[in-house]
Amino acid sequence: MKKLSLVFFGITSNLAQKYFIPALYDMCEKGVLPDNLVILGNARTPMNKAEFSDYVHKVLHLPNVHHKHDIKEEIFKMLIKRFYYLAGHLDDPSFYPLLSHTLSHFNSKDKIFYLATYPDLYHYIFENLQKVGLNKQDKGFVRLMIEKPIGHDLESAGQLNKLLAKYFTEDQIYRLDHYLGKETLQNILTFRFSNGIFEPLINSEFIDHIQITAAEDFGIGFRGTYYDQLGALKDVGQNHQLQMLAFATMNAPAEFTNEAVTKQRIKILESLTPLPQKVVFGQYEGYRKEANVDPKSQTDTFYALKTYLISDRFNDVPIYIRAGKKLKQTVTEVSIIFKNPVNRLLKNLDLGEEPNVLIYRIHPNEGIVLKILTKVPGHQIKLEPEYMQFCYKGDLHSHIIPDPHERLLMDTIYGDQTFFNDAEEVEAQWAFIDPIAADRGKPHIYKQGSWGPKAADKLIEEEGRSWLEPSMDFCRI
Ligand code: BG6
Repeated sequence: MKKLSLVFFGITSNLAQKYFIPALYDMCEKGVLPDNLVILGNARTPMNKAEFSDYVHKVLHLPNVHHKHDIKEEIFKMLIKRFYYLAGHLDDPSFYPLLSHTLSHFNSKDKIFYLATYPDLYHYIFENLQKVGLNKQDKGFVRLMIEKPIGHDLESAGQLNKLLAKYFTEDQIYRLDHYLGKETLQNILTFRFSNGIFEPLINSEFIDHIQITAAEDFGIGFRGTYYDQLGALKDVGQNHQLQMLAFATMNAPAEFTNEAVTKQRIKILESLTPLPQKVVFGQYEGYRKEANVDPKSQTDTFYALKTYLISDRFNDVPIYIRAGKKLKQTVTEVSIIFKNPVNRLLKNLDLGEEPNVLIYRIHPNEGIVLKILTKVPGHQIKLEPEYMQFCYKGDLHSHIIPDPHERLLMDTIYGDQTFFNDAEEVEAQWAFIDPIAADRGKPHIYKQGSWGPKAADKLIEEEGRSWLEPSMDFCRI
């Protein structure tokens, strides 16, 4: 049987350990891996078959917030049979003929190259793949998966897109932002465009403002070398959070195709207004002592900003976005805060102005919930906020949220680019981020376990609003 080869450059990377290898395990357990799939891992360290198998085994047993379930030995054995390992330096041209030889030895027809490597290596990889003809799609497909961030600003993203275009056609390039593969994000589109009752409310007539939070209670771990060059705004703001915003605000695509969906996302990204004076950067106490971090680093581990969309639909609806590490809790969500009715008939003075909020909870307590006011049973008119909720984790749904990498790998295998970024989209994201990232000044130092620097509160409070404390009261497991 002709093989589908998945070549994973950087199989010992954090990305492979945290997402990719566990996702392959899950796919193996579900029986969704194509029969003809072989996985060829690459890294610099020489490992024989047994050592590589031990490595994969160890990775599957590492503590992993995304994969908390048990690892079954029989599934591991099935999975490891598909794995091969080829050590080699990606900047060494003599590695590629060896790679080509190995792939032809597999009788490989279709090929996917997954790059979990430093971007500095990309040009060696592309050039050398071309030299041995591995970028050509004559007998089968050749697809390239590359992770965000694509570049570190608009210029470098443009250069990388040009470099990619030199060796591959756009239909071969799968630019990954794993948030696009998240079930909870994709469901925002279903929720909005399959239910008639909410969409008419998603506009400036009814919405007061939008908040997007991506908070993590942990630090940068051992990723100092990567993180210290980027910071929070570029690590998660430029990509994951802008995509969350795009899903929550884009217009319905004319049809559910890659072109139509991507076009709507791009429209949102291109209509974002950078407000460089409305940005706050923060850094957690102790960050400079983390491994591989410059002791004088000014890198942001937190940012908060305000923006607008230039669109008739969201005219004057402020959008506040924040993200950070070592914050009070781990939670990622989009909140649509509705305007209070002008004449609310039943008021509860104790509550003050309590708006309705539509929350797309990406994780934890995954779900889509609507915060409403209800009457407390009793003789008096006393109101309390409650949640109308759709939750993923219940009896019915507990096991079915696939890891985003699983979803995106399947999409790549089947050639569906709907939930990948195209070149124009990535450049639109950077065009918004660049003016905000420039002239940033020193970050405000904030206490670990807090909600970030006080300046971030001020940013929103001076406009008569406040950050919502993410609730853990709904979709509890
Ligand atoms: C990655 C960032 O892209 O996304 C990390 O590099 C961040 O810093 C992570 O922790 C968040 O993803 P998730 O799926 O855990 O919310």
